[in-house]
Amino acid sequence: MAVANPDTRRQQWSAGSYNTHARFVSDLAAGVVEWLAPKQGERILDVGCGDGVLTAELREMGVDVVGVDASADFIAAAQARGLDARFMDGEALDFNREFDAVFSNAALHWMPKADAVVSGIARALRANGRFVAEFGGHGNVAAIVTAMRAVGERHGGDLSLANPWYFPAPQVYQTLLEHHGFSVRRIALIPRPVVLKTGIEGWLMLFRKPFFAQFGEDAEQALAETIDLLRPALCDADGNWTADYVRLRVEAVLS
Ligand code: BEZ
Repeated sequence: MAVANPDTRRQQWSAGSYNTHARFVSDLAAGVVEWLAPKQGERILDVGCGDGVLTAELREMGVDVVGVDASADFIAAAQARGLDARFMDGEALDFNREFDAVFSNAALHWMPKADAVVSGIARALRANGRFVAEFGGHGNVAAIVTAMRAVGERHGGDLSLANPWYFPAPQVYQTLLEHHGFSVRRIALIPRPVVLKTGIEGWLMLFRKPFFAQFGEDAEQALAETIDLLRPALCDADGNWTADYVRLRVEAVLS
């Protein structure tokens, strides 16, 4: 089995590449922002704020918003928008009872230490504060993960690099929230097929480069084989690719 160098296992973010291949992520956030229902003057923490596009929208709604992210490139992009954006790992949040709400869009699946994340969110909230988030739920990108695992097995790769994410089922996440003192108001899995305007290759290289990089000079071959396996499931007759996203959306209140 190939063993990847620890440095190459980590997801590296580039704000430019994200803007090209994944702008749809913040564009599709209207539903979760509706659940957040931000009020003018509220102090809100945006966990995993990325390049700050959505954080800036919250600020335009009159919110006193703080964004945090564990990518220096994203934080630089968010600060360039004039946001209060801080370099901080979502698995080690360092706030104490200062927010009316904690918000997160399309970020928590990158934080597998979910217990530490929820604990930090609970600590960041004032009494009766709310937590509203959307991220990958159980079954998210299942076809993509399965294709990568098949190629990984074929080439003797490290299969854990095919699925580094946290995609919980609703009941599992509800139990975790309750354990940290939250009452769940609503929670739902939402199928969300997403048309990939720049195709599947851009998506795979943006989100799973470490999986392919482990194959060294065979990386291109592994990528081509993954795309071949995915074509019947995710590519239509006109050559349009659709990613099999499933979201988990939740609203909970600290009780
Ligand atoms: C998502 O936003 O659901 C997602 C992003 C990257 C990898 C997998 C899922």
